[in-house]
Amino acid sequence: MNTNKDKLVIFDTTLRDGEQSPGASMTKDEKIRIARMLERMQVDVIEAGFAIASQGDFEAVQAVAETVKDSRVCSLARAVGPDIIRAGEALKKANASRIHTFIATSPIHMKYKLQMEPEKVLEQAVAAVKHARQFTDDVEFSLEDGSRSEPDFMYRIIEAVIAAGAGTINIPDTVGYGEPEEYGAMFKRVIENVPNSDKAIFSTHCHNDLGLAVANSLSAVMNGVRQVECTINGLGERAGNASLEEIVMAVRTRQDLYPVDTRIDASHIVPTSRLVSSITGFPVQPNKAIVGANAFAHESGIHQDGVLKHRETYEIMRAEDVGWGQNRLVLGKHSGRAAVKARYEELGVTFDDPVEFQIVFQRFKDLADKKHEIFDEDLQSIVAGGEEPVEHYRLAALDVHSRSGNRPQAQLQLMIDGEEVSATADGSGPVDATFKAIESVVNSNADLKLYSVNAVTQGTDSQGSVTVRLERNGRLVNGVGADTDILVASAQAYLDALNLLASGEPKRQGV
Ligand code: KIV
Ligand code: ZN
Repeated sequence: MNTNKDKLVIFDTTLRDGEQSPGASMTKDEKIRIARMLERMQVDVIEAGFAIASQGDFEAVQAVAETVKDSRVCSLARAVGPDIIRAGEALKKANASRIHTFIATSPIHMKYKLQMEPEKVLEQAVAAVKHARQFTDDVEFSLEDGSRSEPDFMYRIIEAVIAAGAGTINIPDTVGYGEPEEYGAMFKRVIENVPNSDKAIFSTHCHNDLGLAVANSLSAVMNGVRQVECTINGLGERAGNASLEEIVMAVRTRQDLYPVDTRIDASHIVPTSRLVSSITGFPVQPNKAIVGANAFAHESGIHQDGVLKHRETYEIMRAEDVGWGQNRLVLGKHSGRAAVKARYEELGVTFDDPVEFQIVFQRFKDLADKKHEIFDEDLQSIVAGGEEPVEHYRLAALDVHSRSGNRPQAQLQLMIDGEEVSATADGSGPVDATFKAIESVVNSNADLKLYSVNAVTQGTDSQGSVTVRLERNGRLVNGVGADTDILVASAQAYLDALNLLASGEPKRQGV
């Protein structure tokens, strides 16, 4: 970090706003794994969830608060007593905690959603901040739909909540309506017009409905904001939030321009992006800045020639600085337990239960038999399912016949609660035939909402990582599977999703 600059606080909300992407919700274990990576990356504040939203969310915030030591852990809370109490309880064991309380301040939200007069909103905001201060000395207040709020009302409410003890004031562009010049100017005016604005850090939180989340956030930074709320891969409600990797690398690459710097260790960006993608099943688009597969690939001959002669001709950042190329060959089939465990620890995955590690180690050995080179992504995909749901369904054998001109046929043996069952089906493709064969014996009544397959690493011997999202009675689950044979990976992912539905556990269920 450049110490001559102001510090830009990086507030990551992958585990809260990111989790609000439909289908992206995460289990407690998955949140812990991502939180460990964020901590290693030196994120300043990790918003771990919305403690009152569900028992699962409460436990996840609590677990992250107990695990993370070097980042501040935060819970969201509406500006009402029960939310704040729940957030305070979940954060009790955190080394450093923050309660992030919010209420809407725009005329449209106050009138139609809250059905409250502005004076009442102001009163409730002040009371919430005072209440939150009873649990922690670090309280953030957000003016939901701030970018569409009346300036004079904003000045009054901000002055009052700072006086009540809020140390951070966040003015979100909740609906992604803002435009960079306008949104930045709004912060400038707020900071100039709120008499005690020097007692708080101002924060930006932008949604990407018009593709402007990062531009709006950076404009806010140019106008006095010193905290950015963002997510890995830009995950988040609707079109997502500002992406952490883009904010951090823009500020770092344009130190000639920005008056701030962050303490982020950027070399963890790509591994963390991969982890979030494998846990949520949301692939990263190849041309995504910083973390997309093509972000540093040069296709045109002229560009290749330029880069070979002098890298800076076409590259403004170094791929290795953001964690590309660290995807080194770490392990192979001769690697022992200690080496595998140590590498997992470096990736933020620890095993308290020796039986759990034994299962993972066996999967590692099975994979190493099929594939010579085991990369970090392979290790992550081995544990991508997090804790195992109750295993009602397990794939015992799969045989798929696919010939051009013929309908593909799948024959499989499943173990259902310990009993072997056979099934056969044809389908419009080999994956369709496999899923139909499974359904012919399980009859789950679930709807397939998403099927996605991605190569975990490069090369034709790469594992295929498959996500299958199923919905039944309003409950969404993501099943994951990984194998060098993508049909096996697909069957495993489908069965993982069925196991999640059958176990009744609220795994990956939306809040
Ligand atoms: O987008 C938004 O306004 C939010 C707030 C809760 C900060 O996510
Ligand atoms: Zn948001």
